Amino acid sequence: MLVIKNGSIVKGENDLEQLDILIDNGVIIKMEKNINCDCEIIDAKGCLVMPGAVDVHVHFREPGFEKKETIETGTKSSAKGGFTAVMPMPNLNPCPDSYEHLIKETDIIEKTAVIDCYPYGTVSVGEGDKEMADIEAIAPYVKAITDDGRGVNNLALLEKACRLAKKYNLVVASHAEDNFYKFAPEGEFVAVRREIEIAKKTGVKYHFCHMSTKESFDAIRQAKKEGYTNITCEITPHHLVLSEDMIKDGNWKMNPPLRSKANMEATVEALLDGTADIIACDHAPHTEEEKSREYDRCPNGIIGIETALPIIYTHFVKTGKISLRKFLEMTVYKPNQIFNLGNRDLAVGEIADIAILDITNKHTYTKDEILSKGKNSPFIGMSYYGFNRCTIKNGNIVYRNI
Ligand code: DOR
Ligand code: ZN
Ligand code: ZN
Repeated sequence: MLVIKNGSIVKGENDLEQLDILIDNGVIIKMEKNINCDCEIIDAKGCLVMPGAVDVHVHFREPGFEKKETIETGTKSSAKGGFTAVMPMPNLNPCPDSYEHLIKETDIIEKTAVIDCYPYGTVSVGEGDKEMADIEAIAPYVKAITDDGRGVNNLALLEKACRLAKKYNLVVASHAEDNFYKFAPEGEFVAVRREIEIAKKTGVKYHFCHMSTKESFDAIRQAKKEGYTNITCEITPHHLVLSEDMIKDGNWKMNPPLRSKANMEATVEALLDGTADIIACDHAPHTEEEKSREYDRCPNGIIGIETALPIIYTHFVKTGKISLRKFLEMTVYKPNQIFNLGNRDLAVGEIADIAILDITNKHTYTKDEILSKGKNSPFIGMSYYGFNRCTIKNGNIVYRNI
């Protein structure tokens, strides 16, 4: 048995209510004021107690690139960030493009993950954009497919994969990038526009990853206005609060890159008006050696799973730009719903997957505290409210600093 005392939970749209939470056998069994229990106590005074957050876009590098991250270090870093479920991307070695390749990853997840991990399968063999992956064989074991890391430019292949994904109730997640324009804004929105047509035509649940340009949001906003509820998108904390004029070194390099101020403002607009469905951080660890190379030669990607919640909380909830309810929608409920991950909620009878954010004290993020193998964060040295202090998964404490 475990009791969380004195914490605040979200009530209605934007209110907090102080309630204690009693957990037994991995399940929430009581939520009341002043629960007394002769058991382990977590004092959550001054904290927001919320359902464990869900990030549908992380790179954990295993199998294949264990120097950058492993499933174990990636999930421990995610637990530190307040996440109890994540979806690792398939740009691995081997890529999970067949049953034989996928089970290499799922075996490691079973043995070493400290939170829920739902792996993606790929769209094409080896993310090569030539031959379709064995989607039929991997369908029972994945929630979604993607070639993230690169754009699918073979549109005939993409359409065929969408039809199969639809048949097996899988989401297709898109790293929308046109190979001709690459990292330029056009690289993103040209791909978004043509992929929207494929999503409309096939009816598959089509999810755009890390959207970052005004034109992309305009296209998605329009499709939603036309009633295409199968089309969704995510935005990252970094595209919401950083822009290209702020770039200092390789730890500010990712794909899609930081954009103009106008595009950053368009990303905020998409957050506020509901065009953006969810937050996902694109946690992309690399070694310090790789990231300390000169800017043009270092790989794309920044870590983000430990700072995602405090950045969104501080910039948008604390300032009153979005409500507490919307914060939960974008970091818990909607990711679960879009990717068919089941329900997660803070209620009696539910599985105890819980995060406890310190919303009273400001904390400065330091390199020393990072649990990811990657130290490539532009947010080191920055101060935020809302850092996670304790994470509970199935009733067990998987991270605690309280
Ligand atoms: O920044 C990025 N990092 N963008 C990508 O498309 C890939 C990812 C990675 O795997 O490092
Ligand atoms: Zn991507
Ligand atoms: Zn990614």
